[in-house]
Amino acid sequence: MRSPVAPALLGLILGFCIANAAVLLDLLQTEFPACDDPETERMADFAVNHINAKNNHGYKFDINSIKMVKVLPRRPFGKVAFLELNLLETKCHVSNPLPVENCTIRPPTEHAVEGDCDVKLLIVDEGYKVLSSHCHSSEDSVEDVRRLCPDCPILSRLDDSKLKETANSGLAKFNAENVDGIHYQLLELSRGFSTHLPLGTHVEFAIAATNCSRQQAQDPAEHCHVVTDEHARNGFCKASVIHLPPVPVVDGEPKPPAEEVTLDCTLYDHQAGGSHFLEHYMHHLGKNIPSPGTGRRVLDLIHSHNDTHASHESHSAEVPAVVAAKPVVKRAVDLTVPISGIPPPVCPGRIRHFKI
Ligand SMILES: *[C@@H]1O[C@H](CO)[C@@H](O)[C@H](O)[C@H]1NC(C)=O
Ligand SMILES: *[C@@H]1O[C@H](CO)[C@@H](O)[C@H](O)[C@H]1NC(C)=O
Ligand SMILES: *[C@@H]1O[C@H](CO)[C@@H](O)[C@H](O)[C@H]1NC(C)=O
Repeated sequence: MRSPVAPALLGLILGFCIANAAVLLDLLQTEFPACDDPETERMADFAVNHINAKNNHGYKFDINSIKMVKVLPRRPFGKVAFLELNLLETKCHVSNPLPVENCTIRPPTEHAVEGDCDVKLLIVDEGYKVLSSHCHSSEDSVEDVRRLCPDCPILSRLDDSKLKETANSGLAKFNAENVDGIHYQLLELSRGFSTHLPLGTHVEFAIAATNCSRQQAQDPAEHCHVVTDEHARNGFCKASVIHLPPVPVVDGEPKPPAEEVTLDCTLYDHQAGGSHFLEHYMHHLGKNIPSPGTGRRVLDLIHSHNDTHASHESHSAEVPAVVAAKPVVKRAVDLTVPISGIPPPVCPGRIRHFKI
């Protein structure tokens, strides 16, 4: 059987030959700024803020390293930048109104998570606009965490029933104790792990206020719904359930195994933009999109934004990576001058935190 590679390659070569002189001109006009250039960093910051703002699940991400950047001219005006970014998960949930610069990067000892994004950015006089962005995230490998610290927690799969039970215990405690007497609902289980010493499970989850009071929620017939209007309120909790060692029975009934629930919740200030998140979240929930955490230990940053309208505007042809990676050398070209098309060794940029 003939390899399907040959026709594909032929197609590519043909495609490239057919591509008009403008494409070659664009290629020769392609700029490769340094990855750590302040202008590149501004573009990367803009892209990350966009990605965090559009993401409805998990945590905010911050830049770890800018891996690649190239800038192409765009017709009739402006430029288009292509960026490859390596990100790291912070400890701020996406619903947290804190700007990402103020969020702590999750250290490798807490099972760090990285994200990789490809971003296409429009550059015009007025500033930037994200044309498309595609990301994926994944946790550090178990071997790497073990090598670093044998006792460090390893994230459990998000469908682990122990995580769900722990989040429910935490939420029940919050609903029993919160001062405003409102019934809150679990929005999202964001991460969690179990420990052996002490025997327990630790989770982080997002919550939102419903239209039920504590008393109303006791009535099984009552339908409690998350509020997104001006009474909207949401927050983020960390809960642990520790199983205490069994108490020896001296006489009387044996006691059920004792457990201790600890809880730390923060409700966000709505003036700072929390309801915005809730509206987006509930909107997406209505669409029945499967959770990005299905079968995984982390909520995948599958954020995928494709501004079709803007993408359809005429702009410089996207030169296939395979062409950009290979220098286009013509005999007539004076080899003593740098040929645009060959990235100078100024990328990838520095690693700001650590490598996963
Ligand atoms: C974020 O950090 C900056 C600089 O450390 C600080 O000035 C600012 O008040 C912080 N913002 C918030 C919302 O905490
Ligand atoms: C909460 O809202 C739902 C849907 O609008 C409604 O059916 C329910 O009666 C409300 N519950 C309370 C206690 O107001
Ligand atoms: C963006 O959407 C358009 C139209 O749906 C599609 O043709 C294009 O392939 C998409 N781009 C990416 C990068 O997914």
